[in-house]
Amino acid sequence: MELFEAIKSRRSIRRYTSDPVDDKKVEAILEAGRWAPSWANTQCWRFIVIRDPEIKAKVADTLTKIKLPDKVVDNPGAASIKTVPVVIVVCAEIGKSGSKPGPGGGGEYVTDKGDWFMFDTALAVQNMVLAAHTLGLGTVIIGAFDAVQAEKVLGVPEGYRVVILFPVGVPAQEGKTPPRKELSEITVRDRWGK
Ligand SMILES: Cc1cc2nc3c(=O)[nH]c(=O)nc-3n(C[C@H](O)[C@H](O)[C@H](O)COP(=O)(O)O)c2cc1C
Repeated sequence: MELFEAIKSRRSIRRYTSDPVDDKKVEAILEAGRWAPSWANTQCWRFIVIRDPEIKAKVADTLTKIKLPDKVVDNPGAASIKTVPVVIVVCAEIGKSGSKPGPGGGGEYVTDKGDWFMFDTALAVQNMVLAAHTLGLGTVIIGAFDAVQAEKVLGVPEGYRVVILFPVGVPAQEGKTPPRKELSEITVRDRWGK
């Protein structure tokens, strides 16, 4: 699949068939994440591949409800986590991305944004969900969950945080296409307000 087609046709998938996802495909997805760019090539990301149904169920229980203006609803991604064959959890080593490299520099951040771990892991995640899509697999990025609880369930060591997770499976639905803002709404030429 051509890159622009993959970018445009990828959708969040929240229902999956029971078809298995083989290790070769999981490996290819992880490989796409591994080649993402990162701050000074620090590669703070770490990936946890979950196939164990009990662990998947415990991770599913960490997903939080979502507050809408008029009601509170279950996370729409929750149902898929227990039944999908594979869940990939993306963690980050804290204090590496965005900081000065070398002896004495570690932990001192270079920019006013501090730790860039959210940015670097997001780049890896986008690579991975696009790779999954080109392999005919569906994903949905899940951010609304109790990360501290997920860290306990997954035994994540000190110095690392769970950032995001996504199920990987054979789609059992066509994703709906939420509209995007027009380029004219989101692009400024030369200088804001000109
Ligand atoms: C950082 C982030 C967190 C998200 N968290 C959730 C979530 O907790 N549950 C869910 O069902 N979808 C979640 N999504 C998926 C978005 O709702 C979805 O990407 C968006 O509506 C656009 O749809 P599309 O992916 O089909 O283009 C998340 C997406 C991102 C980028």
